Amino acid sequence: MQTHQYDVLIVGAGGAGMRAALESSVRTRTAVITKLYPTRSHTGAAQGGMCAALANVEEDNWEWHTFDTVKGGDYLVDQDAAEVMAKEAIDAVLDLEKMGLPFNRTPEGRIDQRRFGGHTRNHGEAAVRRSCYAADRTGHMILQTLYQQCVKNDVDFFNEFYVLDLLVDHDLAGHAVPDGEEVSVAGVVAYELATGEIHVFRAKSVVLATGGAGRIYKTTSNAHTLTGDGMALAYRRGIPLEDMEFFQFHPTGLAGLGILLSEAARGEGAILRNSEGERFMERYAPTIKDLAPRDIVARSMANEVREGRGAGPNKDYVLLDLTHLEPAHIDAKLPDITEFARTYLGIEPYTEPVPVYPTAHYAMGGVPTNIAGEVLRNETDVIRGLYAAGEVACVSVHGSNRLGTNSLLDINVFGKRAGISAAEYAVGAPWVELPEGPAGLVQAELEDIRTRPDGERVGDLRKALQDTMDANAQVFRTKESLEQALADLRGLRKRFASVSVQDKSRAFNTDLLEAVELGFLLDISETVLVGALNRDESRGGHFREDFPHRDDAQYMRHTMVYRRPLTVPVEDAGGDRDGVFSGSTDFDDYRVVLGSKPVTMTRYQPMERKY
Ligand code: FUM
Repeated sequence: MQTHQYDVLIVGAGGAGMRAALESSVRTRTAVITKLYPTRSHTGAAQGGMCAALANVEEDNWEWHTFDTVKGGDYLVDQDAAEVMAKEAIDAVLDLEKMGLPFNRTPEGRIDQRRFGGHTRNHGEAAVRRSCYAADRTGHMILQTLYQQCVKNDVDFFNEFYVLDLLVDHDLAGHAVPDGEEVSVAGVVAYELATGEIHVFRAKSVVLATGGAGRIYKTTSNAHTLTGDGMALAYRRGIPLEDMEFFQFHPTGLAGLGILLSEAARGEGAILRNSEGERFMERYAPTIKDLAPRDIVARSMANEVREGRGAGPNKDYVLLDLTHLEPAHIDAKLPDITEFARTYLGIEPYTEPVPVYPTAHYAMGGVPTNIAGEVLRNETDVIRGLYAAGEVACVSVHGSNRLGTNSLLDINVFGKRAGISAAEYAVGAPWVELPEGPAGLVQAELEDIRTRPDGERVGDLRKALQDTMDANAQVFRTKESLEQALADLRGLRKRFASVSVQDKSRAFNTDLLEAVELGFLLDISETVLVGALNRDESRGGHFREDFPHRDDAQYMRHTMVYRRPLTVPVEDAGGDRDGVFSGSTDFDDYRVVLGSKPVTMTRYQPMERKY
């Protein structure tokens, strides 16, 4: 077992992690550990753009951007965070430009901007051009640009290292630590893929930037690696997860495959049509039509299919029509996604509409943080030295539904903030004693799975999980469907206890790591289902057919779910004492306790959401 020591340790090398590393590395000794190679992180799959009210091509300002974000998130957005993000967006784009990011340009040489769903002029009057982009490869360009800067700054990278435990000086999951008591991070335990060796990283500050968890679903735009690792590790350590019931379904996944076809297509003028050729979004969002926010477009598409107006032999998708756009325009602005349609579906987008259907895309919830990126362990107390940014985190700037292009923005704004906070804290903070035990336990658990002669197959369990999540916790949900998924999950948990792997080797044992990742997926699904079952209303990405309206009186609060031992009485477990966010769901050897957190409102009072 090797031990390393850094002032700041960043877990994850996507946009948020590397943006944090850039800030931290100029202030103090910084390392990044990643289960991939940095340039293979999922930020590279983000396509359509990063928004900022630059007003380069038409009138715009950060206040309109803030309002759109709050309304887009169905008023569950923390408005102080949305203001920070919209204000700092402008510098975030200019920072990247100065680092060399090749944004598309206007004829005058300014950074070009295009339309995206839910981004409007003057509080909803019409769609506005706010997204800065590099063709449909914006995330790829951000990732390459940030990596080059990190290399220039001599950031130490530990590639193909899997984080397996978070070291904290109090066992929050084991017993209830009273509110107000100081809790500090001490480091992480990681597994080196090349050798199978366990490493302990001691750090004064740890930044979680491990991305999302789209692989809880079968149909998803997310890479295989998006298994919710950082969220699950925090949760296992007793840190709550916030608003996990809100999962975004991107409207335009390639039908049957889930591969992302950027919303930029609609930003450039593409139109959604049903089997009758009707531009159906005119009925659902008469003002901004195909550029309504994603929750609304995804539900509208699913509704068209349900009501029999789906296209194709099984009437189970709708069509994205780009045929009225000039081929030269498509080639210049949307080269990658049109190639995906040709490669994966054999469709020529110049002349044929592309089959599309909603695909699981983004977790609005995650590890709760404040606007400095500090992780919260309850409504108010932070864990000293622990930070989170990007999709793993819930700041909560996206509320119950994220607007397209606010994600690349989020990773840059809050990645930077987390990096600065982590470094500044580490410079003055004392070293925390490494807790004894966890690294040995991690090693023993891995060995147990690796050497188990026979048992359940990872692939079978993962497929069963993804199938039930797709069937029961998708765009539309009901109490019954969610209870079915929860019952399935309980069964899968039992089977997971005897999971085994076919590859018994120590080096490059990806089979073993898939078993570990399956454990994370089960944890994340549990938080999604428990949160969704408790929220008897419809808001943003969470649509309960049995409660089709938003209920601000009862549910205008963030959900917090805590994992606690069965021995801790619910009333001592950190959740709410009364109200709709209380109670617990017991599993065989722990309980999931519900709590909540108030929504921060500054200038916008909740209104009915119309587009
Ligand atoms: O459609 C897209 O290009 C995705 C953007 C996003 O999720 O922000």
